[in-house]
Amino acid sequence: MTDLRSDIVINGTRIHNRLVMPPMATAKADAEGHVTQELLDYYDERTRGGYIGLVITEHSYISPEGKASEGQVSVSRDDDVEGLSRLVALIHKNGSRAILQMNHAGGKAKPEVTGCRVFGPSEVIVPRSEVMPEAMTEFIIDRVVEDFASAAARVRAAGFDGVEIHSAHGYLLNQFFSPITNKRTDAYTGSSMEGRLRLHLRVIEAVRKVVGPDFLVAMRLGACDYLDGGITLEDSLSAAPLLEAAGIDLLDISGGLSGYVIPGLTGQGFFRELTGPIRSKVHIPVMLTGGITEPEAADELLRDGCADLIGVGRAIYKDPLWAKHAMER
Ligand SMILES: Cc1cc2nc3c(=O)[nH]c(=O)nc-3n(C[C@H](O)[C@H](O)[C@H](O)COP(=O)(O)O)c2cc1C
Repeated sequence: MTDLRSDIVINGTRIHNRLVMPPMATAKADAEGHVTQELLDYYDERTRGGYIGLVITEHSYISPEGKASEGQVSVSRDDDVEGLSRLVALIHKNGSRAILQMNHAGGKAKPEVTGCRVFGPSEVIVPRSEVMPEAMTEFIIDRVVEDFASAAARVRAAGFDGVEIHSAHGYLLNQFFSPITNKRTDAYTGSSMEGRLRLHLRVIEAVRKVVGPDFLVAMRLGACDYLDGGITLEDSLSAAPLLEAAGIDLLDISGGLSGYVIPGLTGQGFFRELTGPIRSKVHIPVMLTGGITEPEAADELLRDGCADLIGVGRAIYKDPLWAKHAMER
């Protein structure tokens, strides 16, 4: 019977248990986005002993204009590879697999942080943001695709086991997928599934081309906006097989256009109403994160077929020994 201690093989990579530390921004990078000793110590503390199967490191910006916040890690320059390779070497030494989450903030970026103009799919303010973005031209979209691919090449060069493309929590790819923020009428139109996913499929293709077939490519999908006119579960049930066919190896499900906390959604595994149905549409593993604080609840969610992997975020953030206690029960 599958539980938190069961291993799993994803695209040829064996992960020794089903516990994942999901991406959590720490704001511990320096002003240029370089890995610091403080950041290394934070990951060391949480991964020591090898109790976590997979660590997805915090969202890292792929280009200066895609930076979301101060202290965020950069994967936007070749000279980032050295610090990132120290980070992944430490996680590997402790016994966990490691994936880096790549992100572009899109219309959620702040000029006072980036020093750049702000671009999104359309001239629509992203919920909980204050800046009116400019609509991306085809030229800028092409550059975003290249930036994701270049970043992925750096992630591979640094020695990670894989890369995760961020399409949740209101950032750029979530903005393209959501009809609330995507009002385009061109090939990326917000009024068809094809248009809403066009950028995703282009990014996946470009990333896969540079990392090769044997590297893990995950996507964090904001599978429901929980807002009128936004992404619905039905949309994600249609999108999931398309993402799988494009080359995604792992679907890491989250939700919320303005953040992962959804008013009224509580309990252990509060996105299980999304992951269970999505899992039935694909042949790749699906990861569930959200509200899980009890290892027994994680076992139950796996046994009930709600997901293939379990993310435990804030509980591990607050208690670096959470994973040790969960595995030594
Ligand atoms: C401090 C903090 C930073 C976060 N940063 C990220 C991030 O960089 N990328 C991401 O996809 N989710 C991020 N999240 C969301 C978590 O990955 C996770 O989905 C969320 O905390 C819900 O899971 P939990 O209830 O186990 O904490 C962050 C959450 C927290 C608390």
